[in-house]
Amino acid sequence: MLHLDVAGTLAKAITSAKGIPDQELTGLYTGVKRYIEDFLKEREKGEHPWSMNPYDKDTLEQVKEVAARAKAEKIRTVVWIGIGGSGLGPKVIQEIYEGPDTIEFILLDTIDPEILDMYLSLIDWKQTMVVVASKSGGTLEPMSVFFLCWSELKAAKGDKAADRVVALTDPDSGNLRSFCLERGISMLPIPTDVGGRYSVLTPVGLLPLALLDADVDQFVKGAKEMDTVCQNTSIDENPAALLASVQFLLDTKRGYPIRVIMPYAQKLESISRWGQQLIAESLGKTELANPIPFSAIGTQDQHSLLQQWMAGPYKMWHLFIRVEEMTQINVPDEVEPSFEYIIGKPFSQLLDACYQGTSQALTSAKRPHATISLPELDEYHLGQLFYLFMVEVVLLGKLYRIDPYGQPAVETGKKITKEILGGS
Ligand code: PA5
Repeated sequence: MLHLDVAGTLAKAITSAKGIPDQELTGLYTGVKRYIEDFLKEREKGEHPWSMNPYDKDTLEQVKEVAARAKAEKIRTVVWIGIGGSGLGPKVIQEIYEGPDTIEFILLDTIDPEILDMYLSLIDWKQTMVVVASKSGGTLEPMSVFFLCWSELKAAKGDKAADRVVALTDPDSGNLRSFCLERGISMLPIPTDVGGRYSVLTPVGLLPLALLDADVDQFVKGAKEMDTVCQNTSIDENPAALLASVQFLLDTKRGYPIRVIMPYAQKLESISRWGQQLIAESLGKTELANPIPFSAIGTQDQHSLLQQWMAGPYKMWHLFIRVEEMTQINVPDEVEPSFEYIIGKPFSQLLDACYQGTSQALTSAKRPHATISLPELDEYHLGQLFYLFMVEVVLLGKLYRIDPYGQPAVETGKKITKEILGGS
Protein backbone atom coordinates (compact mmCIF):
# COMPACT_ATOMS: atom_id res chain seq x y z
CA MET A 1 0.00 0.00 0.00
CA LEU A 2 1.28 3.49 -0.78
CA HIS A 3 2.06 5.68 2.20
CA LEU A 4 1.25 9.33 2.89
CA ASP A 5 3.49 11.27 5.28
CA VAL A 6 2.23 14.71 6.30
CA ALA A 7 4.69 15.36 9.16
CA GLY A 8 6.34 18.17 7.19
CA THR A 9 3.09 20.16 7.10
CA LEU A 10 2.65 20.24 10.87
CA ALA A 11 3.39 23.03 13.33
CA LYS A 12 5.83 20.84 15.23
CA ALA A 13 8.00 20.67 12.09
CA ILE A 14 7.76 24.29 10.92
CA THR A 15 6.25 26.38 13.78
CA SER A 16 2.59 27.08 14.48
CA ALA A 17 2.64 30.25 12.39
CA LYS A 18 3.62 28.30 9.27
CA GLY A 19 2.34 24.76 9.86
CA ILE A 20 -0.79 23.01 11.08
CA PRO A 21 -1.13 22.73 14.88
CA ASP A 22 -2.27 19.25 15.99
CA GLN A 23 -5.49 20.62 17.47
CA GLU A 24 -6.42 22.21 14.14
CA LEU A 25 -6.11 18.86 12.37
CA THR A 26 -7.96 16.95 15.09
CA GLY A 27 -10.59 19.71 15.07
CA LEU A 28 -11.43 18.65 11.53
CA TYR A 29 -11.87 14.95 12.40
CA THR A 30 -15.61 15.03 13.11
CA GLY A 31 -16.48 17.11 10.05
CA VAL A 32 -14.36 15.00 7.70
CA LYS A 33 -15.79 11.79 9.20
CA ARG A 34 -19.24 13.09 8.29
CA TYR A 35 -18.08 13.96 4.76
CA ILE A 36 -16.71 10.45 4.25
CA GLU A 37 -20.00 9.00 5.45
CA ASP A 38 -21.89 11.34 3.10
CA PHE A 39 -19.64 10.26 0.21
CA LEU A 40 -20.38 6.59 0.96
CA LYS A 41 -24.13 7.20 1.20
CA GLU A 42 -24.10 9.20 -2.04
CA ARG A 43 -22.27 6.34 -3.76
CA GLU A 44 -24.96 3.94 -2.68
CA LYS A 45 -27.50 6.23 -4.35
CA GLY A 46 -25.49 6.12 -7.60
CA GLU A 47 -23.59 9.39 -7.23
CA HIS A 48 -19.79 9.52 -7.84
CA PRO A 49 -20.14 6.80 -10.51
CA TRP A 50 -16.40 6.87 -11.35
CA SER A 51 -15.78 5.28 -7.94
CA MET A 52 -17.48 2.08 -9.11
CA ASN A 53 -15.54 1.79 -12.40
CA PRO A 54 -12.98 -0.70 -11.00
CA TYR A 55 -15.86 -3.13 -10.40
CA ASP A 56 -17.00 -3.12 -14.05
CA LYS A 57 -15.91 -6.56 -15.23
CA ASP A 58 -17.55 -6.30 -18.69
CA THR A 59 -15.53 -3.25 -19.65
CA LEU A 60 -12.35 -4.92 -18.44
CA GLU A 61 -13.05 -7.89 -20.71
CA GLN A 62 -13.83 -5.64 -23.69
CA VAL A 63 -10.56 -3.79 -23.19
CA LYS A 64 -8.61 -7.04 -23.11
CA GLU A 65 -10.35 -8.17 -26.30
CA VAL A 66 -9.26 -5.01 -28.15
CA ALA A 67 -5.67 -5.52 -26.99
CA ALA A 68 -5.79 -9.16 -28.10
CA ARG A 69 -7.14 -8.06 -31.48
CA ALA A 70 -4.29 -5.59 -31.88
CA LYS A 71 -1.84 -8.39 -31.15
CA ALA A 72 -3.53 -10.83 -33.54
CA GLU A 73 -3.42 -8.23 -36.30
CA LYS A 74 0.26 -7.51 -35.59
CA ILE A 75 -0.36 -3.84 -34.96
CA ARG A 76 2.92 -1.99 -34.51
CA THR A 77 1.67 1.50 -33.70
CA VAL A 78 -1.25 2.80 -31.72
CA VAL A 79 -2.20 6.40 -32.41
CA TRP A 80 -4.08 7.62 -29.33
CA ILE A 81 -6.09 10.79 -29.90
CA GLY A 82 -7.49 12.56 -26.85
CA ILE A 83 -7.06 15.69 -24.79
CA GLY A 84 -7.64 16.72 -21.15
CA GLY A 85 -9.14 13.83 -19.26
CA SER A 86 -9.01 11.69 -22.40
CA GLY A 87 -5.29 12.29 -22.93
CA LEU A 88 -3.50 12.93 -19.64
CA GLY A 89 -4.21 9.55 -17.99
CA PRO A 90 -3.09 7.67 -21.15
CA LYS A 91 0.03 9.85 -21.21
CA VAL A 92 0.93 8.82 -17.65
CA ILE A 93 0.50 5.18 -18.66
CA GLN A 94 2.48 5.61 -21.88
CA GLU A 95 5.40 7.19 -20.00
CA ILE A 96 5.53 4.31 -17.54
CA TYR A 97 4.90 1.32 -19.79
CA GLU A 98 5.98 2.05 -23.36
CA GLY A 99 9.29 0.38 -24.11
CA PRO A 100 11.34 -1.24 -26.86
CA ASP A 101 9.27 -4.46 -26.64
CA THR A 102 5.83 -2.86 -26.65
CA ILE A 103 3.64 -1.41 -29.35
CA GLU A 104 4.72 2.09 -30.30
CA PHE A 105 2.27 4.49 -28.64
CA ILE A 106 1.83 7.89 -30.26
CA LEU A 107 -0.31 10.26 -28.25
CA LEU A 108 -1.82 13.07 -30.30
CA ASP A 109 -3.13 15.68 -27.90
CA THR A 110 -2.25 18.58 -30.15
CA ILE A 111 -3.47 20.29 -33.29
CA ASP A 112 -0.12 21.93 -33.94
CA PRO A 113 0.37 21.34 -37.69
CA GLU A 114 4.15 20.99 -37.31
CA ILE A 115 3.67 18.02 -35.00
CA LEU A 116 0.88 16.53 -37.07
CA ASP A 117 3.01 16.83 -40.20
CA MET A 118 5.89 15.05 -38.48
CA TYR A 119 3.73 12.14 -37.40
CA LEU A 120 1.90 11.88 -40.72
CA SER A 121 5.22 11.32 -42.41
CA LEU A 122 6.36 8.75 -39.82
CA ILE A 123 3.31 6.55 -39.31
CA ASP A 124 2.91 3.35 -41.33
CA TRP A 125 -0.89 3.35 -41.51
CA LYS A 126 -1.01 -0.25 -42.71
CA GLN A 127 0.17 -1.44 -39.28
CA THR A 128 -1.53 1.16 -37.15
CA MET A 129 -4.56 1.18 -34.89
CA VAL A 130 -6.24 4.49 -34.15
CA VAL A 131 -7.90 5.02 -30.78
CA VAL A 132 -9.91 8.20 -30.50
CA ALA A 133 -11.04 9.11 -26.99
CA SER A 134 -13.56 11.90 -26.57
CA LYS A 135 -16.22 11.62 -23.93
CA SER A 136 -18.40 14.31 -25.49
CA GLY A 137 -17.42 13.60 -29.09
CA GLY A 138 -17.63 17.33 -29.56
CA THR A 139 -14.13 18.58 -28.74
CA LEU A 140 -12.45 20.34 -31.64
CA GLU A 141 -8.90 19.10 -31.15
CA PRO A 142 -9.36 15.32 -30.92
CA MET A 143 -12.17 15.28 -33.47
CA SER A 144 -10.25 17.25 -36.11
CA VAL A 145 -7.14 15.10 -35.60
CA PHE A 146 -9.29 11.98 -35.77
CA PHE A 147 -10.76 13.04 -39.13
CA LEU A 148 -7.22 13.53 -40.39
CA CYS A 149 -6.11 10.08 -39.19
CA TRP A 150 -9.29 8.49 -40.52
CA SER A 151 -8.58 9.81 -44.00
CA GLU A 152 -4.99 8.48 -43.84
CA LEU A 153 -6.24 5.13 -42.62
CA LYS A 154 -8.81 4.94 -45.40
CA ALA A 155 -6.17 5.73 -47.98
CA ALA A 156 -4.05 2.88 -46.60
CA LYS A 157 -6.70 0.30 -45.74
CA GLY A 158 -9.69 1.20 -47.92
CA ASP A 159 -12.87 -0.62 -46.85
CA LYS A 160 -11.05 -2.21 -43.95
CA ALA A 161 -10.21 1.12 -42.27
CA ALA A 162 -13.05 0.83 -39.74
CA ASP A 163 -11.53 -2.38 -38.38
CA ARG A 164 -8.49 -0.42 -37.32
CA VAL A 165 -10.29 2.19 -35.22
CA VAL A 166 -11.65 2.06 -31.70
CA ALA A 167 -13.58 5.02 -30.35
CA LEU A 168 -13.94 5.71 -26.64
CA THR A 169 -16.96 7.88 -26.09
CA ASP A 170 -20.29 8.33 -24.36
CA PRO A 171 -22.31 5.18 -25.12
CA ASP A 172 -25.58 7.08 -25.51
CA SER A 173 -24.88 10.31 -27.36
CA GLY A 174 -22.44 12.54 -29.21
CA ASN A 175 -21.13 13.22 -32.69
CA LEU A 176 -18.25 10.75 -32.44
CA ARG A 177 -20.73 8.04 -31.64
CA SER A 178 -22.88 8.91 -34.71
CA PHE A 179 -19.80 8.99 -36.96
CA CYS A 180 -18.74 5.55 -35.74
CA LEU A 181 -22.21 4.02 -35.96
CA GLU A 182 -22.50 5.11 -39.60
CA ARG A 183 -19.16 3.56 -40.48
CA GLY A 184 -19.20 0.38 -38.40
CA ILE A 185 -16.39 1.56 -36.11
CA SER A 186 -16.26 -0.26 -32.80
CA MET A 187 -16.69 1.68 -29.57
CA LEU A 188 -15.91 1.30 -25.90
CA PRO A 189 -17.89 3.26 -23.32
CA ILE A 190 -16.82 6.21 -21.22
CA PRO A 191 -19.92 6.02 -19.01
CA THR A 192 -22.31 8.94 -19.49
CA ASP A 193 -22.03 10.15 -15.92
CA VAL A 194 -18.22 9.88 -15.65
CA GLY A 195 -16.50 13.15 -16.57
CA GLY A 196 -13.22 13.24 -18.50
CA ARG A 197 -10.89 13.91 -15.55
CA TYR A 198 -12.47 11.06 -13.57
CA SER A 199 -12.27 8.57 -16.46
CA VAL A 200 -8.88 6.96 -15.91
CA LEU A 201 -10.51 3.80 -14.49
CA THR A 202 -12.65 3.38 -17.63
CA PRO A 203 -11.21 2.28 -21.02
CA VAL A 204 -9.44 5.68 -21.08
CA GLY A 205 -6.88 4.25 -18.64
CA LEU A 206 -7.48 0.52 -19.01
CA LEU A 207 -7.01 0.32 -22.77
CA PRO A 208 -3.56 1.97 -22.91
CA LEU A 209 -2.46 -0.39 -20.13
CA ALA A 210 -3.70 -3.44 -22.03
CA LEU A 211 -2.23 -2.26 -25.35
CA LEU A 212 1.14 -1.70 -23.67
CA ASP A 213 1.12 -5.19 -22.11
CA ALA A 214 0.77 -3.84 -18.58
CA ASP A 215 -1.19 -5.78 -15.96
CA VAL A 216 -4.67 -4.25 -16.06
CA ASP A 217 -5.94 -6.59 -13.36
CA GLN A 218 -3.31 -5.37 -10.91
CA PHE A 219 -4.18 -1.75 -11.77
CA VAL A 220 -7.84 -2.41 -11.01
CA LYS A 221 -6.91 -4.35 -7.87
CA GLY A 222 -4.86 -1.39 -6.62
CA ALA A 223 -7.79 0.96 -7.24
CA LYS A 224 -10.20 -1.36 -5.40
CA GLU A 225 -7.90 -1.70 -2.41
CA MET A 226 -7.52 2.05 -2.20
CA ASP A 227 -11.30 2.27 -2.38
CA THR A 228 -11.53 0.01 0.67
CA VAL A 229 -8.98 2.09 2.59
CA CYS A 230 -10.73 5.33 1.63
CA GLN A 231 -13.97 4.06 3.16
CA ASN A 232 -12.37 4.39 6.60
CA THR A 233 -14.07 7.23 8.41
CA SER A 234 -11.04 8.05 10.54
CA ILE A 235 -8.64 10.59 9.00
CA ASP A 236 -5.68 8.67 10.42
CA GLU A 237 -6.58 5.55 8.46
CA ASN A 238 -7.78 7.21 5.27
CA PRO A 239 -5.01 8.80 3.16
CA ALA A 240 -7.46 10.65 0.90
CA ALA A 241 -9.12 12.23 3.93
CA LEU A 242 -5.77 13.09 5.51
CA LEU A 243 -4.47 14.66 2.32
CA ALA A 244 -7.70 16.63 1.82
CA SER A 245 -7.60 17.86 5.42
CA VAL A 246 -4.00 18.99 5.18
CA GLN A 247 -4.66 20.70 1.83
CA PHE A 248 -7.70 22.49 3.23
CA LEU A 249 -5.99 23.69 6.40
CA LEU A 250 -2.81 24.80 4.66
CA ASP A 251 -4.85 26.85 2.21
CA THR A 252 -7.59 28.29 4.37
CA LYS A 253 -5.80 28.65 7.74
CA ARG A 254 -2.15 29.14 6.82
CA GLY A 255 -2.40 30.98 3.49
CA TYR A 256 -0.85 28.45 1.09
CA PRO A 257 -3.23 28.41 -1.90
CA ILE A 258 -0.73 26.76 -4.26
CA ARG A 259 -0.14 23.03 -4.19
CA VAL A 260 3.04 22.04 -6.04
CA ILE A 261 2.74 18.40 -7.12
CA MET A 262 6.28 17.15 -7.61
CA PRO A 263 7.15 13.54 -8.36
CA TYR A 264 10.74 12.42 -7.90
CA ALA A 265 10.29 9.80 -10.62
CA GLN A 266 10.59 10.86 -14.24
CA LYS A 267 7.99 8.34 -15.39
CA LEU A 268 5.45 10.00 -13.12
CA GLU A 269 5.98 13.45 -14.59
CA SER A 270 2.56 13.46 -16.25
CA ILE A 271 0.68 12.42 -13.14
CA SER A 272 1.32 15.89 -11.80
CA ARG A 273 -0.30 17.30 -14.96
CA TRP A 274 -3.18 14.85 -14.61
CA GLY A 275 -3.57 15.84 -10.94
CA GLN A 276 -3.38 19.48 -11.94
CA GLN A 277 -6.39 19.07 -14.25
CA LEU A 278 -8.28 17.09 -11.63
CA ILE A 279 -7.92 19.83 -9.02
CA ALA A 280 -8.20 22.86 -11.31
CA GLU A 281 -11.30 21.75 -13.22
CA SER A 282 -13.00 20.19 -10.23
CA LEU A 283 -12.45 22.94 -7.68
CA GLY A 284 -11.53 26.07 -9.63
CA LYS A 285 -15.04 27.44 -9.54
CA THR A 286 -15.00 30.28 -7.05
CA GLU A 287 -13.06 33.48 -6.55
CA LEU A 288 -12.92 32.54 -2.87
CA ALA A 289 -10.58 29.86 -1.56
CA ASN A 290 -9.82 26.94 -3.82
CA PRO A 291 -6.54 25.11 -4.24
CA ILE A 292 -4.31 26.12 -7.15
CA PRO A 293 -2.34 23.16 -8.50
CA PHE A 294 1.11 23.57 -9.98
CA SER A 295 2.89 20.73 -11.68
CA ALA A 296 6.65 20.23 -11.21
CA ILE A 297 9.22 17.45 -11.50
CA GLY A 298 12.24 16.45 -9.43
CA THR A 299 15.09 16.91 -9.68
CA GLN A 300 14.87 19.27 -12.66
CA ASP A 301 12.74 21.93 -11.00
CA GLN A 302 15.15 22.20 -8.07
CA HIS A 303 17.31 23.97 -10.62
CA SER A 304 14.63 26.31 -11.87
CA LEU A 305 12.04 26.93 -9.16
CA LEU A 306 13.47 26.00 -5.77
CA GLN A 307 14.97 29.44 -5.21
CA GLN A 308 11.50 30.96 -5.17
CA TRP A 309 10.00 28.09 -3.19
CA MET A 310 12.64 28.62 -0.49
CA ALA A 311 12.77 32.41 -0.42
CA GLY A 312 9.71 33.73 -2.25
CA PRO A 313 6.24 34.43 -0.84
CA TYR A 314 4.80 31.88 1.58
CA LYS A 315 2.15 30.84 -0.94
CA MET A 316 2.98 27.25 -1.93
CA TRP A 317 3.21 23.91 -0.25
CA HIS A 318 4.68 20.79 -1.79
CA LEU A 319 3.26 17.35 -2.36
CA PHE A 320 6.13 15.06 -3.32
CA ILE A 321 5.67 11.62 -4.86
CA ARG A 322 8.55 9.18 -4.59
CA VAL A 323 9.16 5.55 -5.50
CA GLU A 324 11.03 3.39 -3.00
CA GLU A 325 12.20 0.49 -5.19
CA MET A 326 13.83 1.52 -8.48
CA THR A 327 16.00 -0.08 -11.16
CA GLN A 328 19.58 -0.36 -9.99
CA ILE A 329 22.21 1.49 -11.99
CA ASN A 330 25.36 2.47 -10.12
CA VAL A 331 27.78 5.35 -10.54
CA PRO A 332 31.00 3.92 -12.06
CA ASP A 333 34.44 4.07 -10.41
CA GLU A 334 36.01 6.61 -12.71
CA VAL A 335 34.85 10.05 -11.60
CA GLU A 336 36.45 13.43 -11.02
CA PRO A 337 37.99 13.32 -7.46
CA SER A 338 35.53 15.76 -5.95
CA PHE A 339 32.76 13.26 -6.83
CA GLU A 340 34.38 10.24 -5.14
CA TYR A 341 31.63 10.24 -2.53
CA ILE A 342 29.14 8.95 -5.10
CA ILE A 343 31.24 6.09 -6.53
CA GLY A 344 29.29 2.83 -6.55
CA LYS A 345 26.11 4.43 -5.29
CA PRO A 346 22.85 3.55 -7.08
CA PHE A 347 21.23 6.41 -9.00
CA SER A 348 18.06 5.70 -7.01
CA GLN A 349 20.01 6.69 -3.89
CA LEU A 350 21.15 9.90 -5.58
CA LEU A 351 17.57 10.68 -6.59
CA ASP A 352 16.27 10.00 -3.11
CA ALA A 353 19.02 12.13 -1.59
CA CYS A 354 17.89 15.00 -3.84
CA TYR A 355 14.31 14.53 -2.62
CA GLN A 356 15.51 14.45 1.00
CA GLY A 357 17.68 17.50 0.34
CA THR A 358 14.78 19.49 -1.12
CA SER A 359 12.20 18.47 1.45
CA GLN A 360 14.55 19.09 4.38
CA ALA A 361 15.64 22.42 2.91
CA LEU A 362 11.97 23.42 2.68
CA THR A 363 11.46 22.39 6.30
CA SER A 364 14.49 24.44 7.34
CA ALA A 365 12.88 27.43 5.62
CA LYS A 366 9.59 26.68 7.46
CA ARG A 367 7.79 25.67 4.25
CA PRO A 368 5.29 22.79 4.40
CA HIS A 369 5.53 19.57 2.44
CA ALA A 370 3.91 16.14 2.41
CA THR A 371 5.09 12.99 0.64
CA ILE A 372 3.38 10.04 -0.99
CA SER A 373 5.72 7.03 -1.19
CA LEU A 374 5.02 4.17 -3.59
CA PRO A 375 6.83 0.94 -2.68
CA GLU A 376 7.23 0.34 -6.45
CA LEU A 377 6.10 2.02 -9.65
CA ASP A 378 3.89 -0.85 -10.77
CA GLU A 379 0.30 -1.18 -11.95
CA TYR A 380 -0.99 -1.99 -8.46
CA HIS A 381 0.36 1.17 -6.85
CA LEU A 382 -0.49 3.30 -9.87
CA GLY A 383 -4.14 2.22 -9.54
CA GLN A 384 -4.00 3.20 -5.86
CA LEU A 385 -2.53 6.59 -6.62
CA PHE A 386 -5.15 7.57 -9.20
CA TYR A 387 -7.97 6.42 -6.93
CA LEU A 388 -6.56 8.24 -3.91
CA PHE A 389 -6.44 11.56 -5.76
CA MET A 390 -10.01 11.24 -7.04
CA VAL A 391 -11.43 10.51 -3.58
CA GLU A 392 -9.40 13.38 -2.20
CA VAL A 393 -10.92 15.80 -4.70
CA VAL A 394 -14.44 14.70 -3.80
CA LEU A 395 -13.68 15.31 -0.11
CA LEU A 396 -12.09 18.65 -0.96
CA GLY A 397 -15.31 19.54 -2.76
CA LYS A 398 -17.14 18.97 0.50
CA LEU A 399 -14.59 20.87 2.61
CA TYR A 400 -14.55 23.86 0.25
CA ARG A 401 -18.27 23.52 -0.54
CA ILE A 402 -17.62 23.29 -4.28
CA ASP A 403 -19.30 20.82 -6.65
CA PRO A 404 -16.33 18.87 -8.05
CA TYR A 405 -18.19 17.79 -11.20
CA GLY A 406 -18.75 19.73 -14.42
CA GLN A 407 -16.48 22.41 -15.89
CA PRO A 408 -18.74 25.22 -17.14
CA ALA A 409 -15.91 27.66 -17.83
CA VAL A 410 -14.12 25.18 -20.13
CA GLU A 411 -17.33 24.68 -22.04
CA THR A 412 -17.56 28.46 -22.59
CA GLY A 413 -14.14 28.45 -24.26
CA LYS A 414 -15.07 25.52 -26.48
CA LYS A 415 -18.26 27.32 -27.57
CA ILE A 416 -16.48 30.59 -28.45
CA THR A 417 -13.81 28.73 -30.43
CA LYS A 418 -16.50 27.00 -32.43
CA GLU A 419 -18.16 30.32 -33.25
CA ILE A 420 -14.81 31.83 -34.33
CA LEU A 421 -14.43 28.97 -36.81
CA GLY A 422 -17.94 29.52 -38.15
CA GLY A 423 -19.66 26.63 -36.37
CA SER A 424 -22.94 27.04 -34.58
O1 PA5 B 1 -12.65 16.79 -17.49
C1 PA5 B 1 -13.22 17.07 -18.52
O2 PA5 B 1 -14.37 16.67 -18.73
C2 PA5 B 1 -12.54 17.85 -19.66
O3 PA5 B 1 -11.35 18.40 -19.31
C3 PA5 B 1 -12.33 16.93 -20.84
O4 PA5 B 1 -11.54 15.84 -20.43
C4 PA5 B 1 -11.69 17.58 -22.05
O5 PA5 B 1 -12.29 18.82 -22.31
C5 PA5 B 1 -11.83 16.69 -23.27
O6 PA5 B 1 -13.18 16.39 -23.49
P1 PA5 B 1 -13.68 15.19 -24.35
O7 PA5 B 1 -13.15 13.92 -23.77
O8 PA5 B 1 -15.17 15.25 -24.29
O9 PA5 B 1 -13.16 15.39 -25.75
